[in-house]
Amino acid sequence: MQRRDFLLASFDLAAASALPLSPVRAERGLRILVLGGTRFLGPHMAEFAIARGHTLTFFNRGKTNADVLPGVERIQGDRNGDLKGLEGRRWDAVIDNSGYVPRQVRASAELLHASAPHYLFVSSVSVYASFAGPSDEDSPVGGLADKSTEKVDSENYGPLKALCESAAHAVYGAEHTTIVRPGLIVGPGDNTDRFTFWPARAARGGELAAPGAPSDPVQVIDVRDLAEFAIKAIEQRTAGTFNVLSPPGRLSIGDVVRESVAAAKRLVNPQSPPVPVWIPAAFLASQKVEPWSDMPVWVPAIGDEAGFAQTSAARALSAGLTIRPLTETTADTLRWHLTRPQAERNGLKAGLSPEREAALLAAWKTTAAPMRVDR
Ligand SMILES: NC(=O)c1ccc[n+]([C@@H]2O[C@H](COP(=O)([O-])OP(=O)(O)OC[C@H]3O[C@@H](n4cnc5c(N)ncnc54)[C@H](OP(=O)(O)O)[C@@H]3O)[C@@H](O)[C@H]2O)c1
Repeated sequence: MQRRDFLLASFDLAAASALPLSPVRAERGLRILVLGGTRFLGPHMAEFAIARGHTLTFFNRGKTNADVLPGVERIQGDRNGDLKGLEGRRWDAVIDNSGYVPRQVRASAELLHASAPHYLFVSSVSVYASFAGPSDEDSPVGGLADKSTEKVDSENYGPLKALCESAAHAVYGAEHTTIVRPGLIVGPGDNTDRFTFWPARAARGGELAAPGAPSDPVQVIDVRDLAEFAIKAIEQRTAGTFNVLSPPGRLSIGDVVRESVAAAKRLVNPQSPPVPVWIPAAFLASQKVEPWSDMPVWVPAIGDEAGFAQTSAARALSAGLTIRPLTETTADTLRWHLTRPQAERNGLKAGLSPEREAALLAAWKTTAAPMRVDR
């Protein structure tokens, strides 16, 4: 796709976003096909949808969490070349949780648009070209240097998602496409361990290295709030593009750490809860401690990332998105984490290892009197 076409497609998406919502036409008893369904978001969507009387079908390869929700119909196939199982069936709507390159989305949308009249694509706020300032749904999306690439890495993920959005939109048209752009998805079942790191770390007790300043802003979305928004958008046939995350200014990393400590105190360690030690961003940088990967959820609001936690949620909120209290998200995440196998609990995929955290705290103490905040 040429740059010009891409901008046109983005413009169409923006126009679609301005379509009036139809909050009263909620349908029950829908047949919903989920492309994917078994990792993190899919099971939460399915549970919410089933509770509202809908019937679900999962389409996937049968590799990821094959045992989850055994009562849900499975169609086995592969988005990379084997969609045969989807032929000759009818659904009321499709939820695409597993599209990462436009070829996959185009192929499933073309196959399904005559037999399933609504397409909801799960994209990401990573589509935006820049986080130097605030973003909303009309902000420019990123482009690719090599437009034919299918390499889904941290650089290409967002621009490829933007092309996936355009592919869905090109086949289904503005009135039949919903694009959902979540921020960091968090909560029970998260396979990435990013938000989970904080309550899990708090549960270990002791001095806890906390990043930057407690007031540093963050944005997340509880997976259950996202699932509810998506299923209601299907029920109401709500077309358009929506950032789905906590609104700017609602949450800070101090809130995340405070709630994590509170959850650990309540659920694990009432006598000696962890003590946060706040370490400034500049010192973390000097110790090669990376925002986001070593200190998950947190990105300092400076330079090219000054607007990282300034993505508007206003459109989704006015379309009915609800955000549950962080206390609930954090406690439920810790409850779930405590049920995981020991190996998973010991080998979190995100956040500083205990050894690196201990070295960081020791280095900080020799450098400056740390600011302790018992929140
Ligand atoms: N995690 C975040 O913070 C975050 C933030 C923003 C956006 N998102 C987006 O959220 C979406 C939800 O992800 P999720 O993984 O939780 O969704 P999910 O629907 O729970 O699970 C993903 C599903 O895709 C299936 N799948 C993977 N490759 C496939 C293929 N080639 N053909 C058919 N099925 C395939 C997997 O099963 P098999 O492996 O068995 O095939 C699995 O069932 C993603 O689109 C992601 O980009 C995530």
